[in-house]
Amino acid sequence: MQSKFSCPRGTTDITPFDISRWDNIERISKQILTCYNYKEIRTPLFEETELFARSMGQSSDVVCKQMLNLAAQQKDDQDGVTLSGLSLRPENTASVVRSYIQNGFDRKEPISKLFYIGPMFRGERPQKGRLRQFNQIGVEVLGPNTAQPYLDAEIISLSVHLLKSLGLEKFQLKINTLGTPEDKENFSQMLRQALKPYRKELSEYSQQRFERNVLRVLDSKDAADQEIVKKVHIGLSYLSTESQHYYAQVKEALMNLDVDFVEDQHLVRGLDYYTHTVFEICGSSLGSQDALGAGGRYNNLVRQLGGGDIDAMGFALGVERILLALGDKEVPLSNPLAAYIVPMSEEALNQGFVLMNVLRQENISCDLSYKYSAKLKNVLSNANKMDVHTVILLGEEEMKKQCVTLKDMKQKKEETISIKGNDFSKIINILKERYN
Ligand code: HAM
Repeated sequence: MQSKFSCPRGTTDITPFDISRWDNIERISKQILTCYNYKEIRTPLFEETELFARSMGQSSDVVCKQMLNLAAQQKDDQDGVTLSGLSLRPENTASVVRSYIQNGFDRKEPISKLFYIGPMFRGERPQKGRLRQFNQIGVEVLGPNTAQPYLDAEIISLSVHLLKSLGLEKFQLKINTLGTPEDKENFSQMLRQALKPYRKELSEYSQQRFERNVLRVLDSKDAADQEIVKKVHIGLSYLSTESQHYYAQVKEALMNLDVDFVEDQHLVRGLDYYTHTVFEICGSSLGSQDALGAGGRYNNLVRQLGGGDIDAMGFALGVERILLALGDKEVPLSNPLAAYIVPMSEEALNQGFVLMNVLRQENISCDLSYKYSAKLKNVLSNANKMDVHTVILLGEEEMKKQCVTLKDMKQKKEETISIKGNDFSKIINILKERYN
């Protein structure tokens, strides 16, 4: 059947055929995040546009070109309903900071280690690995006086741990530091000075960046810009002694944790809020959209959005890019269906229906083939498609003898179990022993 509608460009359906991969990614991530003492936070999918503009920066690509704003709606006198000035969240750092301030987290705990898993929205030109609705697994750590090199190293190593646990092997961690806001300003001035002789040779886009946010010239994808950037050597001379010391401690802590990294002095990140440590993880098989995840420290954002003097750092990994990088490789399996009940006559269907209900009351995952068939081949081929551990067969013979056949589809073994007097306890015990 030809469908009249397709999902909007830059979005995808996650169908039941793919959902187990998503389930596994979320389950494994939550296990690891909980082990590192992170707690989940869920914020709205839309916020005031101003929140994003103030945090990511008016000149950032996301704010300039990619915000998906909600359409203005007529004002309703009673409720005052209006959707103007609201945008779908392009990322979650700003929302988490807003929530941290609004809910007074700093009065409740000395350090807040938070994580989120969910959709983000950016009005980008869709291409492989670049979507308009995509999902992030992210963490944000906030608290007064929590800017500690060990914490930076822990957060970076957590992102690497997550990717490895999800089955990824080939990626590269790049790190850099932007220093304090004063260091960052120094960096901008030195870079502007160094790029001045080449200004006219820069791409049009980089010429605009030269004015508005010169650091972004460093991560231009334009080949001619990249050649110019190679000629410019600023090193880490823009950093104060304290910032240099902080960065050295972060690197040492990463080495102590055996986390491989390369230093990339051109890594500046596209969002304005970063200070000090920044990092990005790139997958080797992803083409131009190669960032699997990225993050960094943002010590001034809480104050900038109206809160106190609170240090913070975080990262976000892109789930769709993780799946792309995995290709056909399986994410470790989630629990398949424990049992699939297959009746082969009308009487057996009735018996199977009762059995399914009993098993479900015992929290054993199961399903039933609602339409009975007497052809064993058809029945088993359907069961195979369901990725099920055990098929419970209720055929003519079984009904006569008041028993069922348990077919272990993984180990290719079968056994006959009595259900005389509707006593299903043996089946329950076997399934619980196998799958719980
Ligand atoms: P970001 O670099 O904008 O950072 O995004 C993080 C990751 O989200 C990217 O590395 C990529 O994997 C994925 N991603 C971004 N845009 C798209 C897209 N259009 N389609 C598919 N995947 C995409 C942030 O969002 C920051 N909030 C990270 C952070 C958290 N920094 C501090 N805390």
